[in-house]
Amino acid sequence: MSRGAMARLAVAARAFSASASGAGAGGVSMVQGASRGIGLEFVRQLLRRSGEGRVVATCRAPGSAAELQKLKEEHAPGRLTLLPLDVTDESTIEAAAASITETHGSLDLLINSTGILSIPNVIEPETTLSKVQKSSLMLAYEVNAVGPILVIKHMWPLLKVGGRSETGRGFALVANMSARVSSIGDNALGGWHAYRASKTALNQLTKTVSVEFGRKDNIACILLHPGTVDTDLSRPFQRNVPKGKLFTREFSVQKLLSIIDNVKKSDNGKFFAWDGQEIPW
Ligand SMILES: NC(=O)c1ccc[n+]([C@@H]2O[C@H](COP(=O)([O-])OP(=O)(O)OC[C@H]3O[C@@H](n4cnc5c(N)ncnc54)[C@H](OP(=O)(O)O)[C@@H]3O)[C@@H](O)[C@H]2O)c1
Repeated sequence: MSRGAMARLAVAARAFSASASGAGAGGVSMVQGASRGIGLEFVRQLLRRSGEGRVVATCRAPGSAAELQKLKEEHAPGRLTLLPLDVTDESTIEAAAASITETHGSLDLLINSTGILSIPNVIEPETTLSKVQKSSLMLAYEVNAVGPILVIKHMWPLLKVGGRSETGRGFALVANMSARVSSIGDNALGGWHAYRASKTALNQLTKTVSVEFGRKDNIACILLHPGTVDTDLSRPFQRNVPKGKLFTREFSVQKLLSIIDNVKKSDNGKFFAWDGQEIPW
């Protein structure tokens, strides 16, 4: 090998090792549940805001997530990493954590966006107690509450400010996508038992984790309500949404990123709506 080729190899190796240790500028963000909807829009906006920040997007089937594949092609190599992760299969969460450890070394920001409300012939939002089924309660709980908490558990060793974070936040942040209907204090309508209760469980689990992080880790956890947003999740229910109250994904994620950018360590364990208002438990 020529001397020039060896020098180029050495430079490339140094660049790789800097990026593998998480020392690159711009920080590393992970969006879990990134194939569609709000998660996909988070990936799009995080990539757009800086030429340096790196994004790890996970979903069940990255190979068939056309929008994510397109975003990967549109950006410089290494800016967007796609990994498989199914929140109902803990081995995929562990494998994703191992892969991120190897390629990025740290995470400044973890957004858990996965959520289910209805799946035809599998789970339908209940309008009355008589429609409540054990299978729906268990599935909603598994995807909406258990999954995101297991993701935090396995990403925990990675949650540290590795590079210069976009906002100079100085601590790692976990943002879990909840929903206003999870609020017990705000529940005046009833219905949607499985979805509501699973998101309430997510709130309690997140709050509990935030107390532990508050004691010994440089990590904060928050819960976010995105408003009613035009996605596959809300589509079957949009006819009941008052005019002007159905947000675009772009608008909602802009608002949520503004909360994420301005969050303080003392906000650890809080539940915010898209407009920055705190939601009662
Ligand atoms: N849209 C709203 O109006 C609204 C309101 C309040 C709260 N939220 C919350 O905001 C979050 C995002 O919702 P959205 O509207 O963007 O929903 P969406 O468009 O239906 O997207 C849901 C995402 O969750 C993923 N997912 C489902 N099951 C999964 C599993 N087992 N493992 C990993 N990923 C899985 C989906 O991936 P696949 O493509 O693989 O299915 C998809 O990426 C959810 O937590 C939702 O509860 C939404």
